[in-house]
Amino acid sequence: MEEYIAKVLISREELAKRVAELGAEITRDYAGKNLLVLGILKGAVPFMSDLIREIRLPLAYDFMALSSYGASTQSSGVVRILKDLERSVEDVHILITEDIVDTGLTLNYLIANLKARNPLSVKVATLLDKAGRRKVEVSPDYNCFSIPDEFVVGYGLDFNEEYRNLPYIGVLKPEAYKSI
Ligand code: PRP
Ligand code: MN
Ligand code: MG
Repeated sequence: MEEYIAKVLISREELAKRVAELGAEITRDYAGKNLLVLGILKGAVPFMSDLIREIRLPLAYDFMALSSYGASTQSSGVVRILKDLERSVEDVHILITEDIVDTGLTLNYLIANLKARNPLSVKVATLLDKAGRRKVEVSPDYNCFSIPDEFVVGYGLDFNEEYRNLPYIGVLKPEAYKSI
């Protein structure tokens, strides 16, 4: 699997340190609030599962699965809900967790969709922010790392569903995506 990794961009130690810092910040910000951590399948799973164990507060977590119509690697902006929340969110503060904000189209849709359900608040925590690729104006409330426009995989991020289980963020060699 790792023969296609050109370099390690963010090591597992750096990930753990930054996720712990973010967890401490969220712990301070959400003290006394009814918190629902929302994981966006599938990419957010490793980040979310590490982050919730660094948030020292009572919380609930749930998942949504979204799919964008159109070309598989390019977001079209039209989002379909494949799996929705299981209950009303009117009494909770929602913290969306994402592995990456790229064009912003997914989040733009999701935030509007969630706000229409009248939660107490909606905020976003992302592991990675590729701000250079943004197509719509959306900025995460919490971000672990800002990264350049490179093809990154690992720690939840996939290429054709592979590499999600790498314990670090790596840059994929071009031959990996040109060979198929
Ligand atoms: C990726 C990523 C974000 C979204 C970001 O998910 O996990 O959810 O794309 O892209 P955007 O800012 O351009 O909308 P993907 O649709 O690849 O699904 P996955 O999480 O199952 O890999
Ligand atoms: Mn995703
Ligand atoms: Mg993906």
